Amino acid sequence: MCGIIGYIGDKKIIPLLINGLKKLEYRGYDSAGICVRENQELRTIKSKGRISELESKKELNSLNPDLGIAHTRWATHGIPDEKNAHPHTDCKNQLAIVHNGIIENYSSLKKLLEKEGHEIKSETDSEIIAHLIEKFYKDDLEEALIKALKLTEGAYGLALISKNEKKILAARKGSPLVIGVGEKEMFLASDVPAILEHTKKVIYLHDNEIATLTKEGYQVKHMNGEYVNKEIHEIKYSVENLEKGNFKHFMLKEIFEQPQAIGNTLRGRIKNQLKLTLNLDLSSIKRIILTACGTSWHSALIGKHLIEKFTRIPAEVDYASEFRYRNPILTEDDLVVVISQSGETADTLAALREASARNAKTIGIVNVVGSTITREVNSGIYLHAGPETGVASTKAFTSQVLALLLLALYIRQEKGLALDKEILEEINLLPEKIQKTLEISDYVRTIAEKFKDSKNFLYFGRGINFPVALEGALKLKEISYIHAEGYPAAEMKHGPIALVDENMPCVFLATKSELSQKVLSNIEEVRARKGKIISVVNDRNSEYKNFSDFVIEVPETLEELSPIINSIPLQLLAYHIADLKGLDVDKPRNLAKSVTVE
Ligand code: G6P
Repeated sequence: MCGIIGYIGDKKIIPLLINGLKKLEYRGYDSAGICVRENQELRTIKSKGRISELESKKELNSLNPDLGIAHTRWATHGIPDEKNAHPHTDCKNQLAIVHNGIIENYSSLKKLLEKEGHEIKSETDSEIIAHLIEKFYKDDLEEALIKALKLTEGAYGLALISKNEKKILAARKGSPLVIGVGEKEMFLASDVPAILEHTKKVIYLHDNEIATLTKEGYQVKHMNGEYVNKEIHEIKYSVENLEKGNFKHFMLKEIFEQPQAIGNTLRGRIKNQLKLTLNLDLSSIKRIILTACGTSWHSALIGKHLIEKFTRIPAEVDYASEFRYRNPILTEDDLVVVISQSGETADTLAALREASARNAKTIGIVNVVGSTITREVNSGIYLHAGPETGVASTKAFTSQVLALLLLALYIRQEKGLALDKEILEEINLLPEKIQKTLEISDYVRTIAEKFKDSKNFLYFGRGINFPVALEGALKLKEISYIHAEGYPAAEMKHGPIALVDENMPCVFLATKSELSQKVLSNIEEVRARKGKIISVVNDRNSEYKNFSDFVIEVPETLEELSPIINSIPLQLLAYHIADLKGLDVDKPRNLAKSVTVE
């Protein structure tokens, strides 16, 4: 949700900032801008639309600055246009800011500033920060920044520069910022990919910290003025992990990376026993609450099935955005599991804080190492799925489901209950079976060709595969803009069947389960109404074949593991439809990968 990059050093600043922004484009892509310091003056250049439009601005070519900041935006306040794009400057064009987050009390601050004579040019909440700093700025930029931020309510990750000073200031509350440490150069970004080609040494800024970057180094203080000693982390992955390689889109690459991603989530965690280093006493747990947003919420729904099945501990699932405001009833005997690819989603983070404040035990299931959620949970399971760049989550989802299965089995083991050898063996076979599943990609594309112009889609599943239906529908909506809904198959006759006619594609998750026979009846009901049936099956001899227009065969596995395999054809279907429609698969309209605002 908005990407920030800043640089001070001797490298060519404009291409460095533009390339960094491109790596952050998944965070927001409706407008972009850059502000640099040249001959002790600030030069700001902005554009509506993608980074490529900013890059094509001729004015950039003649600049020779000594430092700069840049931003790619996902609009919250004010339409995406040049005026609302960041960086925002003060009245005298002496300082500029880029901001990620939301200033909630901006309208009262705006009134105050306008009364004092400030001229606010945009409709954004962010511009207010520039004018507030201006209000307090005499000769100490840091002091002015602290005074300004103390008046704001809400969230920020921001960078500030002044024409008078050869430094970049950064501040964080709620929105991520990372400092890149170089030799006689320093970087700032909202995420590691933006700076990874230059340095692997990073420092994660925490809430209420302010950093000052100069060419020679950095210094971090708490808002209360105390210096903070920060740990330097070494990033383990490389720039190649962030490239598309031979794939047309990141999403397709990430779908095809699932055998490795699942293998990495598994690594070192299963032998005869399960090994998770949780360092948390779970013996008194009486209830488990899973909370998340978007695709991660779907993995939570699957997690509920797995936890209840293997541990017999009651499990509940809540949207993080609802949980945080629900005045939830929690005790120290509750375990709250927060699930997030990015580890930065604002609502999920707030739900975690709510749980911690009420003394519940907390576990994070997170992909991004060092992200905010990982720092605030009691314990956690990293996915190790590798960086996910496509806005629509794929490999993180299947890894989350696996991590939840491992958690369920681990709790079972801790309770002294026997672990079934067969399930451990089947889990170890997953990377191989996923590899096999990916072979259906070309066939799925032929199905996509038939249905790419459909206006609606229905997805049906039962039990543990009902959330897979929801996720399949979400994937299609996100990237192809086709209206799609997921339903538990038995609910069909209570409403959705009214929509079924010869134009309605219906995707059935019909792999072997206790309820297979019942799903078959639902398929027949759709067929009787001339609906088009696409079924996902893993039983070569199944009767589904006779009733379906298209049959997608996937490798057989245990029902508990089937959501991982079954998700893959649905990811591929959504991908191929969106690609055939010529849409921007990796950056669907109105969406962003990391939603760090409410
Ligand atoms: C955004 C993304 C989704 C993602 C959701 C939760 O909406 O577009 O793909 O599932 O945020 O993100 P998280 O990083 O917390 O899993």
